[in-house]
Amino acid sequence: MSHSDLLSDLATKKPIRPLLDELQWMHEWFDSWREAYDSMSFEDHVAIYDEMYRVFPEQEHHDTSAVVDLVRGTGVRTVVELGGWTGTLAAQVLSEDTLTVTRWTNFDICGKAIRNPDTSDHRYVPIALTDWAWKGSLPTGDLFVATHMIEHLSNSHFFGLLKAIRVAEYPIVHLESPLTDDGQDWNGYFGSHKLLFGWEEVCNLMNIQDYKLVGERDSCFTFARNKSGG
Ligand SMILES: C[S@@+](CC[C@H](N)C(=O)[O-])C[C@H]1O[C@@H](n2cnc3c(N)ncnc32)[C@H](O)[C@@H]1O
Repeated sequence: MSHSDLLSDLATKKPIRPLLDELQWMHEWFDSWREAYDSMSFEDHVAIYDEMYRVFPEQEHHDTSAVVDLVRGTGVRTVVELGGWTGTLAAQVLSEDTLTVTRWTNFDICGKAIRNPDTSDHRYVPIALTDWAWKGSLPTGDLFVATHMIEHLSNSHFFGLLKAIRVAEYPIVHLESPLTDDGQDWNGYFGSHKLLFGWEEVCNLMNIQDYKLVGERDSCFTFARNKSGG
């Protein structure tokens, strides 16, 4: 069967056609989301993430071993996570033996994800944000973690996050994200990705906040705060 036969066969199959229409519709929906991002209120964003929880409840993209190695190597006690969804990373890391972590707080915009935690570990504290995290809700801690989260922010919100990181003076910041080196326009992308910056710019901006890159593994970038303050 030729390539075009294969395609037309696929397109005319009754159970598949609605699925393709649905996928096309979703592609267009994500572009509309990108376009509307700046004009939406915090509450609008929460409502959309709550709906995303209903449609796509499974979100598990993180490299757990990178965080386990980091925690083991540094002996951190308090972890502040942003965008940890239902806490799968926390659940997996906290299930490891002989870790120093005493408290892992996960702040997420999606109330439904926060209210459906993956662990009942007493060290895990899930908190649903009531406003953007950079408007004052992030506490201090030994390690700040955001996996597959920063790509969902606008550039301007990423600047807000950088400021919050600088103010909280986290000694270590661990970011995991599928960014390219140079950044990209996510137009047409099937997912709520928005950030235009790539890793080069993210590293530059972290440097400006006094954080230097101390570890890189696939799409995981770990930064340490320059204690001398410059
Ligand atoms: C693709 S999921 C990644 C979940 C998890 N960290 C992982 O690596 O599997 C993106 C996460 O970022 C959260 N998120 C997106 N924008 C956010 C924001 N402005 N503030 C807090 N959380 C946000 C979403 O609710 C979701 O939990």
